[in-house]
Amino acid sequence: MRVGCPKEIKNNEFRVGLTPGSVREYVAHGHEVIVETNAGLGIDADDGVYQAAGAKIVATAKDVFDQSDMIVKVKEPQPSEWAMLREDQILYTYLHLAPDPEQTKGLVESGCTAVAYETVTDDHGGLPLLAPMSEVAGRLAIQAGATALEKVYGGRGVMLGGVPGVLPGKVTIIGGGVVGLNAAKMAAGLGAEVTMLDRSIPRLRQLDDIFNGRVRTRFSTIEALEQEVFSADLTIGAVLIAGAAAPKLVTREMLSGMKKGSVIVDVAIDQGGCFETSHPTTHSEPTFEVDGVIHYCVANMPGAVPVTSAHALNNATLHYGLQLADKGLKAIAEDRHLRAGLNVHRGRITNKPVADALGYELAEADTVLKVA
Ligand SMILES: NC(=O)c1ccc[n+]([C@@H]2O[C@H](COP(=O)([O-])OP(=O)(O)OC[C@H]3O[C@@H](n4cnc5c(N)ncnc54)[C@H](O)[C@@H]3O)[C@@H](O)[C@H]2O)c1
Repeated sequence: MRVGCPKEIKNNEFRVGLTPGSVREYVAHGHEVIVETNAGLGIDADDGVYQAAGAKIVATAKDVFDQSDMIVKVKEPQPSEWAMLREDQILYTYLHLAPDPEQTKGLVESGCTAVAYETVTDDHGGLPLLAPMSEVAGRLAIQAGATALEKVYGGRGVMLGGVPGVLPGKVTIIGGGVVGLNAAKMAAGLGAEVTMLDRSIPRLRQLDDIFNGRVRTRFSTIEALEQEVFSADLTIGAVLIAGAAAPKLVTREMLSGMKKGSVIVDVAIDQGGCFETSHPTTHSEPTFEVDGVIHYCVANMPGAVPVTSAHALNNATLHYGLQLADKGLKAIAEDRHLRAGLNVHRGRITNKPVADALGYELAEADTVLKVA
């Protein structure tokens, strides 16, 4: 198959759909890989590195789309990109279609087959192509929070690790999923005092086993939440209720009980945030202050570290990408996890939440895939 990777064009997106390491894997499977010039500059990989990995470099995105059977990207296609997709093409990327009627219409009209990273599943009920970005965001949350705690950035001037003879900072993490676990590892690694809250008792048991007493766990009630948030120097918001907006667990009223100059990092901001006072911010202006509490609410945190993020994403996407390239639509027909990733096929919506959200008739993936 001819596999194409255009340069990402969404504002401030520096990741790339295929790293040179992934290109080598596709080439080793006998595929031709076509990469747009400078596609990898954001991760320090120039055209020469891609050529050495076996890619053919082309001048424009149009060349990539024209010459490829399958397109591998990071972000959802932009209007100029969905106009270049065609019926016999597979698109493999993040899509997030439910809140995006324009893009959905563009993909439906293109006739392409679109597999969304965010809905591919695994045997454990997880979303394996979403998890690496939660890992990055969770770890970054502590770096970002520690910086915001510095006095010059408006924070209360506490160092998370403390020093011998001075107590460490206190970190409260609301939500003990992928983001929460990774934030806790970083915070504990720095020497902070860490408490995690979750609603799932089995998950709290797992966390207790993982940290073996190094991190405190607490069932998340209003009372427990207030006690932990009021005493924290840094609070991380990391809850997720699948398919729903994040619950507003920390109200505006509760901010008055928090320490002045303490910091919240609301990682769940991409689902609306779990602090009532949160609103999305960008990497160029990541924080704002409400009632003396510094809020960090960047909606695309992994974008700050494209080198790490692009490699983490490629590690997760490579397996299914190779299946798609090796077998085409048959790979989707054969594998239920890849089928869960199928969102659009030849003008039909095959993902129920997307169909429900945007008023399309659902076409079951099993029935629309007529593979010889
Ligand atoms: N801002 C970013 O750049 C960025 C990047 C990656 C992920 N995220 C977001 O981070 C959030 C967390 O993602 P994740 O992968 O860790 O999800 P996850 O499903 O792995 O974990 C969510 C956890 O929240 C817990 N939870 C649900 N309700 C709760 C409550 N009332 N109190 C306490 N805990 C509760 C669940 O039991 C679960 O353990 C999501 O909204 C995700 O979209 C944001």
